[in-house]
Amino acid sequence: MDLQLAGKNAIVTGGAGGIGSAICTLLAEEGANVVVSDLALERAEAVAEQCRVKGVRAHAIHTDLTSPADCAALVDRTAQLLGSADVLVNNAGLWPTHLVTEIPLDEWHRTIDVNLTAVFLTCQRFVALNVAQKRKAKILNVTSQAAFNGSTTGHAHYAAAKAGVVTFTISLSREVASKGINVNALALGMVATAMNRDVLAADRAYYEKRIQIGRIAQPDEVARFAVFLVSGAADYFTGATYDATGGMMSR
Ligand SMILES: NC(=O)c1ccc[n+]([C@@H]2O[C@H](COP(=O)([O-])OP(=O)(O)OC[C@H]3O[C@@H](n4cnc5c(N)ncnc54)[C@H](O)[C@@H]3O)[C@@H](O)[C@H]2O)c1
Repeated sequence: MDLQLAGKNAIVTGGAGGIGSAICTLLAEEGANVVVSDLALERAEAVAEQCRVKGVRAHAIHTDLTSPADCAALVDRTAQLLGSADVLVNNAGLWPTHLVTEIPLDEWHRTIDVNLTAVFLTCQRFVALNVAQKRKAKILNVTSQAAFNGSTTGHAHYAAAKAGVVTFTISLSREVASKGINVNALALGMVATAMNRDVLAADRAYYEKRIQIGRIAQPDEVARFAVFLVSGAADYFTGATYDATGGMMSR
């Protein structure tokens, strides 16, 4: 299947992380140029280099997604560097742990800022750019099964933000479908990354029991689905949240 990604220009937030780096390298394998955006610039540079080895153009951009200026600058800088931005994968995430009675207000704000407000801000700039350039484009927002199930282990703020991503995705998709811009979300279950390394080390069996397939996903397993959803093979899909949870969530 031709994913028609060759020569497209993609932005991946949290591109230095476990799932983000897998999405970046798979996009590069399909011939897409990649902007690896992350707070962790050194790791982002390393991912950009892995992409360049595959023969595409790739840049690392330091972005603090709690900064509205950085969110806008990410899209603008991509357009300056590559001429356009055809794909936006809002993948960065923050998963702090506190029960509701213990969540400090600044942690609440930071969790909402990174997981939800930054998705709005990058989408806003990305849509404006593509409407101005009259280009078709794809947006994928990474969310979680927690958006539907809530949290049982101290992530109520994260679950609330990820639920916001689901309905934001629906609303935006309706606004921009006629402009040739597709907007979807991908709800993940448990994927082995730095984000959950400690909880998996503490009680892997607790999570595996909740997954029908019986194991935690590897990043590239879900990254392949993400790459399909931003590809030219996915033109008919918009306004949906697709589940990639190994059966952890069935709805
Ligand atoms: N790993 C899982 O089991 C799982 C499950 C459900 C959903 N998700 C979602 O998948 C996405 C990727 O997570 P991951 O598992 O690869 O985690 P990860 O921790 O490996 O990667 C997240 C990346 O986001 C970056 N980031 C955090 N705060 C930032 C900020 N303020 N500005 C810019 N970048 C920032 C981090 O530096 C990191 O590189 C997240 O949206 C996460 O919520 C993951």
